[in-house]
Amino acid sequence: MNDSTANEINLGADSQAHQAAAGSNISQTYIAQQIVNAPEPPREWKPPRQMLNVVPTFTGRRDALEKLATLGARGVTTPRLMLAGIGGFGKTSLAAQITNDLKHIFDGGILLAEIPTVDVFLKLDEWAKLYDGDVKEIQDVNLRADRVRDLIHQRVGSKRVLAVLDGIVDENDEPKLAPLVRALSDCAVLATTRATNLPALYHFRAIPVQDFGEQDAVDLFHKILLDDARLETDLIYYR
Ligand SMILES: Nc1ncnc2c1ncn2[C@@H]1O[C@H](COP(=O)(O)OP(=O)(O)OP(=O)(O)O)[C@@H](O)[C@H]1O
Ligand SMILES: [Mg+2]
Repeated sequence: MNDSTANEINLGADSQAHQAAAGSNISQTYIAQQIVNAPEPPREWKPPRQMLNVVPTFTGRRDALEKLATLGARGVTTPRLMLAGIGGFGKTSLAAQITNDLKHIFDGGILLAEIPTVDVFLKLDEWAKLYDGDVKEIQDVNLRADRVRDLIHQRVGSKRVLAVLDGIVDENDEPKLAPLVRALSDCAVLATTRATNLPALYHFRAIPVQDFGEQDAVDLFHKILLDDARLETDLIYYR
């Protein structure tokens, strides 16, 4: 074999490799297009979990927690409870705790509105999206609320939804509460409030949140200070 024949043979091999490479490029592009054009598989819907932060040192409040557990009960009407008490007594902490305790019961989702900062129109839109809907075009607040109620119902069927309306202060919150409660007609609702006499809360059963009992206070100190030996000494001295 002379040099020129050898070159021809090499060229031939190279060009076959090019063709193979070109062929594989085409098929990769083709596959990529098929992936892009393929209809999206139905997205798996997951129940939303809008949760308050649990207080890591949460202590006591057994009575209130027992009453709050009825939020998970199935009945003719959906449960509506309010934790009522003055500022700083632990209403939000209790709401966070019970929501976390019951989260597996609420297979239709857990919703949250922080009343002091909530924009009701945006909140209803947010909730609609969580249940695969869109209510942006609906300008009337009550109609928007009704549509959200329907969307939740259509999406979850007989599954259960819990909503927490946290941080109600006084009658100035009434305009925010009414449409939210309306949207939540089919949901269990827990409100935390300093005022109990608001029309929107008329059907809510009040669970009073009062100051900590002595035992709860001691337990809380233990939890915060863990095994600090000084605590025992101080408590003995105090007694
Ligand atoms: N059961 C509890 N165990 C441990 N700490 C608690 C408990 N309850 C309340 N606290 C502490 O007290 C703080 C104030 O409580 P929380 O915010 O729940 O009060 P609130 O009643 O919701 O007040 P507001 O009316 O201002 O919203 C919490 O951040 C937490 O640190
Ligand atoms: Mg609070």
